Amino acid sequence: MEQKELLYEGKAKKVYATDDPQQLIVAYKDDATAFNGLKKGTITGKGVINNQMSNLLMQRLEKAGVPTHYIQELSPRETLVKKVSIVPLEVIVRNIAAGSFSKRYGVDEGVVFDAPTLEFSYKNDDLGDPLINTSHALALKLATPEELETIRKYALQVNDFLKQLWSECGVILVDFKLEFGRLSDGTIVLADEISPDTCRLWDEKTHEKLDKDRFRRDMGGVEDAYEQVMSRLRQHEA
Ligand code: TMP
Repeated sequence: MEQKELLYEGKAKKVYATDDPQQLIVAYKDDATAFNGLKKGTITGKGVINNQMSNLLMQRLEKAGVPTHYIQELSPRETLVKKVSIVPLEVIVRNIAAGSFSKRYGVDEGVVFDAPTLEFSYKNDDLGDPLINTSHALALKLATPEELETIRKYALQVNDFLKQLWSECGVILVDFKLEFGRLSDGTIVLADEISPDTCRLWDEKTHEKLDKDRFRRDMGGVEDAYEQVMSRLRQHEA
């Protein structure tokens, strides 16, 4: 599949057209940002890890019944995906209090929930991706009621599946962010990526952070953490 013109460059990925109007190529960068682009840096090797991890997880999810945009890995950093129009929602599932949940509600990081929580942010950089509820999402016409229900169902299904998979790797899935898109016929599929950029992953025994929080919080050992979770996942799959 030939890479044609650059359609879009985001913070962590570039998106290219192909000669098939229904297919795109995503190219993962080593660039890292946090706090809506305020903090900038590089995580060497991140693009390769995020591409390969996301592809592995999406293939597993697809088999488990969650439709995704994944088609084929083209190179260590590049993947062919189905073209979607992104639903402008960040869909966040949490199993354990951390990050913005801990800050907003004054709950210590590490408090385990009885059941997963689901939240939506309005994907809008100018507004700083504000937290919204479902009636806000409907008022803003970001999705239909049926689409929101489908997204909710898939997000919880992804959580059940990935929580189990990561636990078999000795890793706790604390929380994560998903994005969904619409195919040209309106079908909702999982899009974007699932990686240490978009998940909180803690070592089961030590609770050591193995994700982008090491970059966000200047903890050091960022590259090692990404490599560590990727190698545990590879070992699990071997
Ligand atoms: P939060 O606690 O900062 O709201 O983050 C929740 C989860 O979403 C966490 O796993 C990191 C991920 N996330 C993204 O993927 N992109 C973002 O822009 C933010 C803020 C969080």
